[in-house]
Amino acid sequence: MQVYLDNAATTQMDVQVIERMTEIMHECYGNASAIHQQGRKARAVVEMARKEIAKMLNCSGPEIIFTGSGTEADNMALRCAVNDLDVKHIITSKIEHKAVLDTAVELHLKGLVQISYVKLDILGRVDLNHLKELAAENPKSLISLMHANNEIGTINDIVAISQIARDNNCFFHTDTVQTVGHYTIDLEKLNVDFIACSAHKFHGPKGVGFLYKNKRLRIRPLMTGGGQESAMRAGTENVMGIAGIAKALEIANRNIDVKIETVQRIKTYLKEQLTSEISGVCFNGDTSESGGLYTVLNVSLPPHDNASTLLFQLDMNGICASGGSACNSGALSSSHVLQGIGHPTDRSAVRFSFSKFTKQEEIDYTVKKLKELFS
Ligand SMILES: Cc1ncc(COP(=O)(O)O)c(C=O)c1O
Repeated sequence: MQVYLDNAATTQMDVQVIERMTEIMHECYGNASAIHQQGRKARAVVEMARKEIAKMLNCSGPEIIFTGSGTEADNMALRCAVNDLDVKHIITSKIEHKAVLDTAVELHLKGLVQISYVKLDILGRVDLNHLKELAAENPKSLISLMHANNEIGTINDIVAISQIARDNNCFFHTDTVQTVGHYTIDLEKLNVDFIACSAHKFHGPKGVGFLYKNKRLRIRPLMTGGGQESAMRAGTENVMGIAGIAKALEIANRNIDVKIETVQRIKTYLKEQLTSEISGVCFNGDTSESGGLYTVLNVSLPPHDNASTLLFQLDMNGICASGGSACNSGALSSSHVLQGIGHPTDRSAVRFSFSKFTKQEEIDYTVKKLKELFS
């Protein structure tokens, strides 16, 4: 049996997205900057996608800048804040995605910023009182805190964080790579400066994402050499990818409440089964329905001879899961997120992540195999 439980790393593409992209590849091959008919046709696809995405997120079209990935969008937010918004201090946490963490550290090593790391509780939630103190001590900082953690699923209260940012004259970037396409996002209500998004996390194509940049901000491009994306990102537009991300988001937002309920049921079922079948199992991060992603369950397993080769053994049994973020796969103990929440080093952890395509039989099979491995 083949079981795919690594949807936080990437998802299977929706057939309708593939069809839409195929249509664009066949019929819309012009360069979107060209002034002839084929160019104008491609331009219309790009601008329609931007408009549709903006409508779904309740922002305006020019606030969406298409990028090649979520990583690029995170980079743009941090680097442009430092280059163009006079940011000299970044407030972040030790469990952010490396796209944020490594970028902040590089900017620090270049002498451009100081970094403060906000305290977290044992579930990986931001300590809002500490954040208030840091923001008050360092006005005009960039606060970069993720909406939901990709390894343990813990969701941050970004409305509260955004309020702290506003009260203290700070900028706020939130990495929403694990939440756009999974929850309804209303940017008008969130009142943030930047969000980062990636299509392949919600059944769209790899290699395309976007940065949302609040219209009140003036920043310059990181990538130069052309006037694309309103001169914010040079480079010929990935027209089929852009059409793909818009289609994927449209499908993801359709009947979103039903999807949330269905996938949450799968997660709860796995949690219950593991609790009853494997003694000593526990779970990392906030696994409550309101406090954690319905797509992620991070399982902490008791010490066992099979623990160090767990992902390999699951793979041998046809089960795709992960030890953390995709780049950390296979390196169970080295996850910076688990270290950041003080996960005991004598236990191994595995992240199971779900999508609308996950079936209960896959969960039953996985529990059976884990039980065999940990008996
Ligand atoms: C929270 C988070 N941020 C950023 C990224 C990077 O996105 P991309 O794969 O599009 O570069 C990921 C992907 O793992 C993620 O989970």
